[in-house]
Amino acid sequence: MILSNMALVAMTDGAALLPDAVVVIRDARIAWTGPRTELPVAYHADEHTDLGGRLVTPGLIDCHTHVVFGGNRAAEFEMRLEGASYEEIARAGGGIMSTVSATRDTSQDALVENALPRVDAMIAEGVTLLEIKSGYGLDRDTELRMLRAARALGVQRRVAVHTSFLGAHAIPPEYAGNADAYIDEICIPTLQAAHAEGLVDAVDGFCEGIAFDTSQIARVFDAAHTLGLPIRLHAEQLSHQGGVALAAAHGALSADHLEYATEKDAKAMAAAGMVAVILPGAFYTLRETRMPPIDALRAAGVPMAISTDCNPGSSPMTSLLLAMNMGCTLFRMTPAEALAGVTNHAARALGVADAGQIAAGMRADLAIWDVTHPAELSYRIGFNPLYARVFAGTLERQ
Ligand code: NIG
Ligand code: FE
Repeated sequence: MILSNMALVAMTDGAALLPDAVVVIRDARIAWTGPRTELPVAYHADEHTDLGGRLVTPGLIDCHTHVVFGGNRAAEFEMRLEGASYEEIARAGGGIMSTVSATRDTSQDALVENALPRVDAMIAEGVTLLEIKSGYGLDRDTELRMLRAARALGVQRRVAVHTSFLGAHAIPPEYAGNADAYIDEICIPTLQAAHAEGLVDAVDGFCEGIAFDTSQIARVFDAAHTLGLPIRLHAEQLSHQGGVALAAAHGALSADHLEYATEKDAKAMAAAGMVAVILPGAFYTLRETRMPPIDALRAAGVPMAISTDCNPGSSPMTSLLLAMNMGCTLFRMTPAEALAGVTNHAARALGVADAGQIAAGMRADLAIWDVTHPAELSYRIGFNPLYARVFAGTLERQ
């Protein structure tokens, strides 16, 4: 198939725009792309689709989500509006733990059913690759069920799903005051079981005062290394705990959140080749005032990704376009940085080499927009200009 008559933002050269471009797709991969006038003769006979001059970007990638969960936390939202903090609610047994109770009581089919409207909202905005974490089970059966539900979502919908095992998300009530035993007796054995079932693409953790310290996370990372799995970390979100330095020392793909990260952390991330995953939805929802060190990350040359962090507590957001807008308005990222954040840099945060750019050999996953300039994707609030998506080489009108 040949897609023609488009303004192409391939994300291979910043957010540069190539007018009158062509993309040739064969076998769910991009075979060739470039100016129409240079289309090789070998492709001239392929079936043709005219995109009417629309803007084309890589399919969007939401690289950090907790989209599978039971229940919701609207009551906690009301408590926070009355002045309770996220950490106070968590320490009182609410927060992540209330979602753990609800998730433990939810079947795999119901987890999938509950997640589908959220996943559909993401797809409707051009998402073609979605990361989904476990971490609301904190026991073997529920963690495995969450990961199976995540895989099922990738079968039921035309979207690629990348899973992360997040057993080290919170300390369950049955291990209260005994986080070390939880890591050794539940978290690591469950990771091994999930890996044996082919359910884990990466391993994540939450390094925080209300979660796990660096030595506990280090044991999870060591277990991941033994299994040959890449690692990531929720780091320096609510306080500075040294998670970035730990993640860098262990060769992590990314550190995520980063509100309390320092310039030194930014340099360590650059030296380790890590991606900074910026999550403005959590910053906004928690009414955080401390900003991630965007200038230091930029100066150090750390690639920045942007994600929804879709979860029932700190970021009940399913709009990646809104996350881009927030990255720009709240953090002064540029629209070009925001677009890189949901395409090539997001792919890097996942360790996925064949998505996030439009180039020969890449997956044929594209988003086709009714806009004329890529900055319009970050500029508007609550408006979806998606015209169509191409997933695995198939054009789908939304
Ligand atoms: O990424 N920071 C830890 N985990 C989630 C929040 C999960 C929740 O509140 O349910 C996050 O913000
Ligand atoms: Fe998260």
